[in-house]
Order: sequence, then structure tokens, then C-alpha cells
Amino acid sequence: MKIINVVGARPNFMKIAPIQRVMSAYKNIETRLVHTGQHYDERMSKLFFEDLQLPKPDVYLNVGSGSHAVQTAKVMMEFEQVLLAEKPDLVVVVGDVNSTAACSIVAAKLGVKVAHVEAGLRSFDRTMPEEINRILTDAISDFLFVTEQSGLMHLKNEGINDSKVHFVGNVMIDSLVYFLEKARQSKIMSDLKLDPKNFALVTLHRPSNVDNKDHFLNLLHAFEVIEKDINIIFPIHPRSRKMIESFGLQDKIDRMKNLMLLEPLGYLDFMNLMQNARLVLTDSGGIQEETTYLGTPCITLRENTERPVTIEVGTNVMVGNDKNRIIEEAQKVISGNGKHGRIPDLWDGKAAERIVKILTGE
Ligand code: UD1
Repeated sequence: MKIINVVGARPNFMKIAPIQRVMSAYKNIETRLVHTGQHYDERMSKLFFEDLQLPKPDVYLNVGSGSHAVQTAKVMMEFEQVLLAEKPDLVVVVGDVNSTAACSIVAAKLGVKVAHVEAGLRSFDRTMPEEINRILTDAISDFLFVTEQSGLMHLKNEGINDSKVHFVGNVMIDSLVYFLEKARQSKIMSDLKLDPKNFALVTLHRPSNVDNKDHFLNLLHAFEVIEKDINIIFPIHPRSRKMIESFGLQDKIDRMKNLMLLEPLGYLDFMNLMQNARLVLTDSGGIQEETTYLGTPCITLRENTERPVTIEVGTNVMVGNDKNRIIEEAQKVISGNGKHGRIPDLWDGKAAERIVKILTGE
């Protein structure tokens, strides 16, 4: 069985790593790892291959950045050539980035089976490019691997045949479980001179937060209040860095003496900070899940989430873009009244094993 595993952007790497590792132990599976090059900076890509012990991609498509249409179209044109040359039996795509949708469309049209890992998640917010990518990918996939109960319900409501849908757990948590001990050994805390549970960790990159000046300013106003109580560590995504420059917000950030802006961090260093943080403030999807697994309180700076289990049973609280709500929730956690949670069903580090068993018909 010949399988192409696809990665494109930062949140794909930790999802493919366990699948690639499990597959490599199967004698009857031949894998090819294709990197579209959607993320290309060393700190957004290469660093993750090293930390996650991913093999060098067999094929690198080098598509880079662009408008949604340009980026998606470039991936499709390049990936079609790969499929024609490699003639795989199956393409595995993960998550919801443009590379996910682009590669699944190309495969489906060439009659190659598609497996979508992290299927069924829905924010019901079609202004999010990821929501469009999720709907498209799920509609044309042959295997839909689901991380939480809400996904089963959404796929049923969309009329997707039950026989294609498998509740397997969460491959992002597989990576977290696998690398937890190694992440604990990271020197990032001493490098940054931080004490455990004495800082807040921030990440921001959603267009709805950082591409709109008023929204970005709202968040910075909240951080100005929060940094009076606790140090803020903010590893910054290239998109947000670019917007800080174009909105002229650098001075405002420089004035916050307890806010430390960092380059994007590697996987192990970031996991270490997430474990040690008093709280996390984020608009990421995956970080809502990782904090729930780690038991670290998470304040989600979005109006909706496609990962409701992190709120229902995990440590996640959703506050949107409202300055006062952000401050209020942060102060609750800082004063020791943060939310406690439990680990969702099947988030046990074995999702990739379940997936590969299903794919090989075991
Ligand atoms: C993408 C995904 C998003 C995911 C995020 C994680 C889509 C639609 N979005 O968003 O779901 O949560 O990745 O990071 O697929 N850039 C660099 N270096 C890089 C990559 C990007 O400087 O290596 C800059 C470019 O200026 C680019 C901008 O970041 O224009 C945005 O990159 P893009 O891949 O379009 O989307 P992300 O915001 O990273």
C-alpha cells in the first residue's frame, strides 16, 4: 500500500508525525511525505521537523504565501504532478489549512482515496478560511477520523455515511504524549529566566484578531492591564509581526515592560512553556486542545470554537475580543480560581495506531 502523507503549515507537523511513525513500522506500507511549503520560515517549519523527528520530506512543493486562491491553486497544480508520478493508493491530509483542502481536492479528482484526520470539527463561522477548508475536505474524503463527539454529530448532519466515519482520538495529543518527557527537559524556562506558574503565555494569528486594527488594539489594551499582575510571554507568528508593523503598534508593545515578544518557538520549547504557564491566552485551535490535556487554564480570544469539548470538559474558556472579559477571566486564573478539567475520551496517545489499523483493514 502506497500512502502519501501531506503537511503544509505549522499545525500539520505534530499531527502527521505520529501517523508517519506508526506507518513506518508496517512492512506493507510505503510512505511518501509531501511538504507543500505553505509555511517555509525556518521557525515555522524546519525547527518542527527536527523537534518532532520527522523525516525530511520526499517532495517539497515550495508554494509559499499568497492570496487564498493563489496559494490553493499553486498547491493543486504542484500536487497533481506528484500524484500522477507516484500513483499512491491513498492520500492522508490533516487539519484545516489551505494545503489540506487543496490536496484532498486533487486526490479525489484523480480517483485516489483521501483520509482526513481531524474531520468533523465545525465553528459554523464561514468567515474563517479554515471552516471552508474543513467542509470541503470532509465532503470528499473516504476516511474521516474524528477527535471528539461533536465531530460525529456534524458529519451525520451533513449526510456523510457512517461507514466512512471513525472516532479515533487526537493525533495532536499523540505527539504531546510522545514528546512530553523530552519537552520537560527543554531549557527555555531558565533561558527566559521564568518561574513556573508565574507567567501568561500568549499566541495570536487569526486574521479576525490581527488583520483588524481595532481588534488587535483591544487585545493589546487587555494585555496592558494583565501585565501589571503577571509577566506575559508572546512568541509571535509572522502574520501578527507583519500587522504590528503595518498598524504602527510596535511602540505600544515596547511600552509594556512585563511583556516579552519572542520569535516563534520550536515544538518542545513551546510545550514546556505551556506546561509551566499559569495561563494561556490564544486564538489557536490546537492550543485549546493541548492546554486541556495539560490541565493549564486557557482563555480563547475568539467568538467561537470548533473544539467544544475543550470547553465542555477541559480547561478552556471562550471570551472573544472583549477587553473587559479577557481581563476578568485572566484575573480569575491569576487569583487561583482558574477552570479545572479532565482529558477528553480517547485522547490517550494512541490515535495514530487506531488510524493506521483502520486504513490497513486490520
Ligand atoms: C495558516 C492556516 C491557519 C493555521 C496557521 C498556523 C490557512 C488558511 N491558515 O495561517 O489555519 O492556524 O497557518 O500558523 O491555511 N508567513 C511567513 N513565513 C511562513 C509562513 C507565513 O512569514 O513560513 C507570513 C506570510 O507573510 C504570509 C502570512 O504569514 O502571508 C500568512 O501565512 P498563511 O500560510 O497564508 O496563513 P497563516 O496565517 O500562517
